[in-house]
Amino acid sequence: MITNSHGWVLETRSTAYAFGLNPSGRLVHRYWGARMPLADDYPAPLDSPGWASFNGPAHLTPEEYPAYAGPSYIDPCLKVTFSDGVRDAVLIFKSADVLPGPNPGVDIHLEDAVYPFAVTLHYRAHEEYDLIERWASLSNHGDQPITLERAWSAQWHLPLGGSYRLSHLAGRWLDEWHIHREVLAPGLKVLESRRITTSHHHNPWFAVDRGNADEDQGEIWFGVLGWSGNWKLTAEVTDFASTRVNLGINDWDFAWRLQPGETFATPASLAGYTQSGFGAASRCLHDFTRDTVLPHGHILHKVLYNSWEATTFNVDVPSQSRLAELAAAMGIELFVVDDGWFEGRNLDDAGLGDWWPDRAKFPDGLGPLINRVNQLGMEFGLWIEPEMVNPDSDLYRAHPDWAIHFPTRQRTEMRNQLILNLGRSDVQDYLIDILDKLLSENAIDFIKWDMNRNVSEPGWEGAEGDPRELWVRFVQGLYRVWGTLRARHPHVIWQSCSGGGGRVDLGILRLADQAWVSDNTEATARLGIQDGFSQVFPANVMEAWVTDSSAPHIPLEFRFHVSMAGSLGVGGHLLHWSEADRADAARLIALYKQIRSVVQFGDQYRLRSAQHEPFSAVSYVSKDRREGVLFAFRTHIPDPAILPPLYLRGLDPQALYTVEGFDDTRSGASWMNAGLTVQLRDFQSTVRKIKRVG
Ligand code: DGJ
Repeated sequence: MITNSHGWVLETRSTAYAFGLNPSGRLVHRYWGARMPLADDYPAPLDSPGWASFNGPAHLTPEEYPAYAGPSYIDPCLKVTFSDGVRDAVLIFKSADVLPGPNPGVDIHLEDAVYPFAVTLHYRAHEEYDLIERWASLSNHGDQPITLERAWSAQWHLPLGGSYRLSHLAGRWLDEWHIHREVLAPGLKVLESRRITTSHHHNPWFAVDRGNADEDQGEIWFGVLGWSGNWKLTAEVTDFASTRVNLGINDWDFAWRLQPGETFATPASLAGYTQSGFGAASRCLHDFTRDTVLPHGHILHKVLYNSWEATTFNVDVPSQSRLAELAAAMGIELFVVDDGWFEGRNLDDAGLGDWWPDRAKFPDGLGPLINRVNQLGMEFGLWIEPEMVNPDSDLYRAHPDWAIHFPTRQRTEMRNQLILNLGRSDVQDYLIDILDKLLSENAIDFIKWDMNRNVSEPGWEGAEGDPRELWVRFVQGLYRVWGTLRARHPHVIWQSCSGGGGRVDLGILRLADQAWVSDNTEATARLGIQDGFSQVFPANVMEAWVTDSSAPHIPLEFRFHVSMAGSLGVGGHLLHWSEADRADAARLIALYKQIRSVVQFGDQYRLRSAQHEPFSAVSYVSKDRREGVLFAFRTHIPDPAILPPLYLRGLDPQALYTVEGFDDTRSGASWMNAGLTVQLRDFQSTVRKIKRVG
């Protein structure tokens, strides 16, 4: 961390981020890129010239956290209305607190020129990960409420004058995580969620390059927002070739009445810079997530079986015990009962909200099934969907007002369910109590937390603040419920699911150890989905089941290999699997147990993208570079096909390595530069262990 007359420079292992006060006293951006040797190497914060009467200095000044104020027309981070109706914020620098420590940083204190409104900008350097973290705190020091209408986390500035390409992820239910790359042109590109969750449709992640980066090389500026509700990303290229990316809570339908004495803290945005391409950008995020975000980032995930696709809602002790016996014999370590176990839940039209075992299916509670699963040597996991309520439930009959609704409107049901207003503390308390009881009375090791619809009629009768605070208070309530349960049951491994990958972000991953990536478990589709997911999230987060949803010509081994590239699970109907299939599965699960620490904790290299190539490959290399594992997949390529070589990555160039299936021992440099060739037929795959010799 450098502090001098030019301002502040946050330095990480190989990057730097600089900003300071210009001669006019504005907090402006100076630099974001490769770290340089001298403090004075970083440009000074300058005043911006004006450009005729239409574009004064205010419009051209690259402010770190621009508020809507004065003659500036760029997309600002902040928009407020004071109680007298004044609708801008003129922020003046007051002081800075430089913070040493493992994540050095600085807090910059700004205040409005007239109103008792203070903004603190928080900056932290995560040196080892080449990441900068930013968020803002907005405080009302007066005696009248202030309305926040936009309160974003950060504006990230790209070097002035460049031409850039934005990479982002888009999709929909069953079809998440597609990578899109598009040139940024003058104007605004907007990505967002208005669904009260992160959403299947876009993810709060960006990677910006100069249009020529690939997996291994090229400058990338990338970032995320750690928030699990409505969010917005705008990438603006101004009329003066200044490119900025904003990230924050969505301002669409947002308002927050900041009462006297209160502070509103935005979620954090993290961003980084690399010269080593998209692969390096992903690995920074993977390492940071594993080391600092996930509650159990360094616990190996167990191979699980989930009975949803086998038995759907028809769960009881005999049906689950039969599956559990077969699962245990295959080497499964964790048996998960999905939807259908709780009161009145025979289809998707009843029961949500009544979180106790169905009396008909489990007359003696879950104990007998859990005991059986434990006797078989497995841990036990359970599915819940706490934020939801079916109108046909005891909970709804007692508290119809707890559902999100507008009083004069029909409550739209999707999947026969409504969303509970988790902004309300009584709803939060109900969920904490009933789920704490469930976890306290039963030996549960794993919880899959699902969320199967998006919001509609987002009303809040009797809200103390602005009813539009719902968007944020819902997420804060979710974090409180989940956080309290986590703290009371620290050994439990939690999974975030929202009809597949509808809620995966660095906010929820502070609570969940894993994510269910997609409800699409068809193996060839899954290859592309996993490739997109890996842009942001590490393989230990990525739970991947082998199911029966692939076409019959996709071999079981191929399906396993796809799932073994993440955190392996099985979801097929084991009673329908032949003995030979179960024996194959046992062999592959045993193989996975040998390689999983490299997959879950190693450095990931996308050697050939499954989103773009019918012959794809991904590898993982242990942190000490002593071992690795290579996965290669061929889907459909019309014959005659010649598969191109695979060039390994991440090995020590000087050290000697063997690759399973090849007789020669070669240097890491040779495996990476001369490569290797594998022969695969259509829908064939291979997994090869890589070992350092000596
Ligand atoms: C959606 C999930 O993504 C599925 O895996 C399953 O848990 C169902 N919900 C159960 O209702």
